[in-house]
Amino acid sequence: ARTAVVIPAAGRGVRLGPGAPKALRALGGTPMLIHAVRAMAASRAVSLVVVVAPPDGAAEVKSLLDAHALPDRTDFAVVPGGETRQESVRLGLEALPPGYDIVLVHDAARPLVPVDTVDGVIEAVRDGAVAVVPALPLADTVKQVEPAAVPGEPEPVVATPERARLRAVQTPQGFDRDTLVRAHETVTGDVTDDASMVERLGRTVVVVPGHEEAFKVTRPLDLVLAEAVLARRRL
Ligand code: CTP
Ligand code: MG
Repeated sequence: ARTAVVIPAAGRGVRLGPGAPKALRALGGTPMLIHAVRAMAASRAVSLVVVVAPPDGAAEVKSLLDAHALPDRTDFAVVPGGETRQESVRLGLEALPPGYDIVLVHDAARPLVPVDTVDGVIEAVRDGAVAVVPALPLADTVKQVEPAAVPGEPEPVVATPERARLRAVQTPQGFDRDTLVRAHETVTGDVTDDASMVERLGRTVVVVPGHEEAFKVTRPLDLVLAEAVLARRRL
């Protein structure tokens, strides 16, 4: 079964602060998106990478891919994205040619995921799971709250889920293609990852080990960490 990766990279990066779209910002002098593409193409199982670019940035992303050295064994395509992550992923899925039975979805905002994590996800799908998410145990205790009636007021705690049973999930998430396509055709409403859409179909999602370096670059401090991880790799 051949494997393709969809990389949603169409977000603006509002939480990172003003500047270029997040995926195009530099990390160690190279756009974050290029790191993410290389991380996917590093897996020998991956034969196609579809980048979902900012809606008005597809041409710029195409020339970026042309300008950076990428493995010959991998094909690359670029499509414009949408208003939400969910819509961007759907547009990426619609651009997939036939012949790819396994599809990974990977955030451009997780540029440093190690290849072993990618391979672990693909292996679990090959072994028969319809949906696979890499995840880590939580360091923090998590509280469920009742959103404050008046913004700024203290929020009452409703529950404290047992931390040992919680996982923080990352990407790449891996799927049986038909299952993921059906999820994107039928599930509506706000979701923050693709696996939760498969859960809503009533299908089983499984967790495999994630990696600390697969963290998402969301806020300015995450850029500091990403630069430090890159510098350590270059030692
Ligand atoms: N994404 C996308 N299309 C959107 C929104 C997000 O392809 N309309 C992608 C982002 O480019 C990112 C991934 O989804 O690679 C995870 O989203 P997030 O970390 O929230 O990135 P942004 O939406 O860009 O950041 P923010 O929410 O702070 O604006
Ligand atoms: Mg976002």
